[in-house]
Amino acid sequence: MANYKTNNVNETEKIGFLLGQTVRSGVVAMFGDLGAGKTAFTRGFAKGMGINCDVSSPTFALVNEYRGEKQTLYHFDMYRISGWDDLYSTGYFDYLDEGACLIIEWSENIEAILPDDCIRVTITKTENTDERNIEIVGAELLENPCN
Ligand SMILES: Nc1ncnc2c1ncn2[C@@H]1O[C@H](COP(=O)(O)OP(=O)(O)O)[C@@H](O)[C@H]1O
Ligand SMILES: [Mg+2]
Repeated sequence: MANYKTNNVNETEKIGFLLGQTVRSGVVAMFGDLGAGKTAFTRGFAKGMGINCDVSSPTFALVNEYRGEKQTLYHFDMYRISGWDDLYSTGYFDYLDEGACLIIEWSENIEAILPDDCIRVTITKTENTDERNIEIVGAELLENPCN
């Protein structure tokens, strides 16, 4: 487990970028309130995977698909998920079976069906407006972002 402190949105994207450089498949489960920086983290993560797409919150679509040259990233937002039918219709289980890479906002809402080996990213606001704590469990960054 590792903890990082960021002081602005770019630093949060950078942590996402570094994680994206190390991950090629499986689930990255993100936890954290509205405005914590989950979508910002995902923007960096996609870049780190080598995917140049516009990353935006899939709140209405539930899932966005970002196609890179080598991999596809599925970006979920489980905020409004309500029940199994919803979940099946997003393709969550199909993408998991395919061995794709999934990054998931509001993983709190699907805790029971997260794979045991998923990477967990928890972003927390602090008392300072633009400061965030980012905890990463299940993966190591290649570079120390504090350098
Ligand atoms: N350290 C930080 N990390 C991430 N976002 C920050 C930070 N400081 C301020 N922000 C702002 O917080 C908001 C985060 O938005 P977003 O990534 O959409 O959050 P979420 O997807 O968790 O709801 C953005 O407006 C961003 O500019
Ligand atoms: Mg979001």
